[in-house]
Amino acid sequence: MNQDDMKKEAARAALEYLPDSGIIGVGTGSTVNFFIDFLAEIKHRFDGAVSSSEASTERLKAHGIEVIDLNAAGEIEVYVDGADEANHQLSLIKGGGGALTREKIVAAASKKFICIADESKLVDILGAFPLPIEVIPMARSYVARELVKIGGTPALREGFVTDNGNLILDVHHLKIMEPNKLETQLNDIAGIVTVGLFAHRPADVLLLGTPEGTRTVLPA
Ligand code: 5RP
Repeated sequence: MNQDDMKKEAARAALEYLPDSGIIGVGTGSTVNFFIDFLAEIKHRFDGAVSSSEASTERLKAHGIEVIDLNAAGEIEVYVDGADEANHQLSLIKGGGGALTREKIVAAASKKFICIADESKLVDILGAFPLPIEVIPMARSYVARELVKIGGTPALREGFVTDNGNLILDVHHLKIMEPNKLETQLNDIAGIVTVGLFAHRPADVLLLGTPEGTRTVLPA
């Protein structure tokens, strides 16, 4: 079984968590793309989706799934999204696809967050995957200097602009021992729009695709 097969397993398992009706929150990335394809098969069962990126919106619409503005959706029952890393408390690093800001908003507006990933994403300590941070363009250099002060090595994601018109700094060499504290600290830096650390709002359930089937991980 390759990595894509494991992503697909996890995506399929998320269908069990969907409500019988209402609106579903949909994340971004290759694992979520499998989930969207599965959603298409049961689109008669729900009213539509709130999307976390232009890419997911396009894929949802291509399947004939209605995309609903978050402002019109109210509280969402379930949000399904992938991750770049997850620890055993289900704090996450997200933003490998650059959609972290809208992902964080939709996760915050949802009652339940189901994270789907292949087994390689579960780690003991977050930070081997460079932490994505969305920044306002004029603040790029200032924010980068502040990130160096806390021990990170920021790198501008070359040629990339987010759906919100901002830039991404990928921060290397962070060993994240206290994700909650670091998220608060980074949120305080002027010019940072969103930190790709999801510790204040972690996932509620992690569905990990493995060669032996899907493993369900709950927060330790
Ligand atoms: C996008 C994300 C993705 O969820 C994350 O990068 C995982 O992607 P994939 O499912 O392709 O491994 O946060 O901003």
